[in-house]
Amino acid sequence: MPVSCVVGLQWGDEGKGKIVDLLAREAEIVVRFQGGANAGHTVQVGAETFVLHLIPSGILHPRTTCVVSNGVVLDPEVLLGEVDALEQRGVGVQGRLFVSDRAHLVLPHHVAIDRARESRAACPIGTTVRGIGPAYADKAARVGIRAGEVRDLDRFAARLRENTEYANRLLTAVLGALPLDVGATVQRVVDAARRLRPLVTDTTALLHEALATGRRIFLEGAQGVMLDVDFGTYPFVTSSNASVLGVGPGTGLPPRALGEVLGVAKAYATRVGAGPFPTEIVGPLGERLRQAGQEFGSTTGRPRRCGWFDVVAARHGVRLMGVSGLVITKLDALSGLERLPVAVAYRTPAGDTTTVFPAGSAEAAAVEPVYEELPGFVGDLGGVRRLDALPAEARRYLAFLEAKVGVKLRLVSVGKERDQVIHP
Ligand code: IMP
Repeated sequence: MPVSCVVGLQWGDEGKGKIVDLLAREAEIVVRFQGGANAGHTVQVGAETFVLHLIPSGILHPRTTCVVSNGVVLDPEVLLGEVDALEQRGVGVQGRLFVSDRAHLVLPHHVAIDRARESRAACPIGTTVRGIGPAYADKAARVGIRAGEVRDLDRFAARLRENTEYANRLLTAVLGALPLDVGATVQRVVDAARRLRPLVTDTTALLHEALATGRRIFLEGAQGVMLDVDFGTYPFVTSSNASVLGVGPGTGLPPRALGEVLGVAKAYATRVGAGPFPTEIVGPLGERLRQAGQEFGSTTGRPRRCGWFDVVAARHGVRLMGVSGLVITKLDALSGLERLPVAVAYRTPAGDTTTVFPAGSAEAAAVEPVYEELPGFVGDLGGVRRLDALPAEARRYLAFLEAKVGVKLRLVSVGKERDQVIHP
């Protein structure tokens, strides 16, 4: 099958950027299909660290074409900032980066509304304040502005002015926030739109052409299935289908085109922002894991909440997305812990045991994980390249996860560098 996909099995930050970077060398086209600049994909190449929010990680391979497809909500200023940063570091994007004319734009008023809502909410979601929710809301309300509209800058400026003025009424009258300076905002965004114009094209036609000629397409999921707007811990989710379910509407590729689906999970679990997290570890052990895994958001710098591996959540994603291969990342960060509990079921407040992830956030917040404990392992795993060179307890841990999640292990990552991987 020429189309494969990498998706997160947890609450995002599973280390998908590194895995995509690794596999992108086999692909001719790498596509971001949902989310926006809320994502932060970190790729370490030698001494250099690249954090990409919108541009697919495949851009670091010189012969790869990169597509930001229609399911993405795109902040033009962020995208252009990334283009500039890459070009300054010798990574050329001209002729290799394409933006869908159907992708909706994230505009300054979306960011302002996101910020105002979060600061006023009784129970904030803990968003990345990148304007994601308001931009998808405008898309669904059919008032959004799409990237293709930059082809006519006069009309674009008029639409932007109208939307910013409308947002200003919402910001001031309802949300108690300051209004945006309409003239300056329109000027700034039109300048960005002018620079964006050469990148904008019909990426669905581009992808269909690639499919017809058998080119290898790689789809790079952002966030993770537990943040999916339909199947995550709603309302503590992002506003897109952050799973394989976003592929069809986010690219225009037919579902049957999809071949391999790689599900990426950390050897433990993390979450940023509010919302249920059944296996969360509070206290010094959680802090130790945070330091060992350097669990601080790549987009916001926020400390991530840390927890044990959750098979119930992982199975939820595997079933929804038809995951065909499992990738475990950051195994090295668990080194030195005496015991490794893994949640294999939940106990509900009514005393029942379940292996189904609850639909409601209140229910998910109320469950108690049922753990099986495995012995921990010690030693620096960073130099290990073969499964049989891992400590026996680490092998046992991986085999346990593989059996419980029910998907064949395809890759294990033991460090930040491109080559710090084990192919089982
Ligand atoms: P938003 O996507 O900025 O609206 O944020 C909604 C929720 O998704 C918040 O809990 C964020 O912390 C979370 N989130 C969004 N993008 C990411 C990501 O790339 N990694 C991890 N969490 C994310």
